[in-house]
Amino acid sequence: MSGTLVAYFSLTGNTRKVAEAIYDTLDEPKVIKKIQEVKEAVDFSLIFIGFPVHSHSTPYKVEEFIRSLPSGIKIALFSTHGSLTGSRLSREAMEHAVSLATKTKVLSTFSCRGEVSLEGMDVLSKSPEHQAWTEMAPSARSHPDEHDLHDAQSFAKWTVVLASQP
Ligand SMILES: Cc1cc2nc3c(=O)[nH]c(=O)nc-3n(C[C@H](O)[C@H](O)[C@H](O)COP(=O)(O)O)c2cc1C
Repeated sequence: MSGTLVAYFSLTGNTRKVAEAIYDTLDEPKVIKKIQEVKEAVDFSLIFIGFPVHSHSTPYKVEEFIRSLPSGIKIALFSTHGSLTGSRLSREAMEHAVSLATKTKVLSTFSCRGEVSLEGMDVLSKSPEHQAWTEMAPSARSHPDEHDLHDAQSFAKWTVVLASQP
């Protein structure tokens, strides 16, 4: 068991950008894949798992993936979201994702904002369930930006250091 996997779920490309920035900063051996395409997670000693916040939570495919991981693997979680960084709305999905990782060891987490397409905002802001975060979402425009990607790379490097410790 060696090497690092970056597994991500992304509908509009924001989380994929963060995943690729993380992947670029890692040493070989390394693999990047959409979560839906990962067959053998057991081959890796460290897995970065990325997802967009959907309806205040973790997308179901990502939940399934986290639950399916064999025990002993070290993982790090990252997310993108339309709501403000650090707000309860952006934190609760990450807290939920961490709570699913009962068999694995969560070394670290990272999140940043991700812009919402205008069409998406138009539809979602009409639903009461989405009102709170869609009010914050316009200022997420142009995120993740180069600073977010730089921060994501710092998170990845620090995670690798943590993973090397017993
Ligand atoms: C159906 C849907 C639901 C969303 N729900 C939330 C939410 O509850 N809270 C939030 O902060 N952002 C929410 N967002 C915004 C996304 O999390 C954000 O735009 C993210 O960066 C998208 O990532 P992706 O491009 O990788 O799919 C939602 C977006 C969509 C399309």
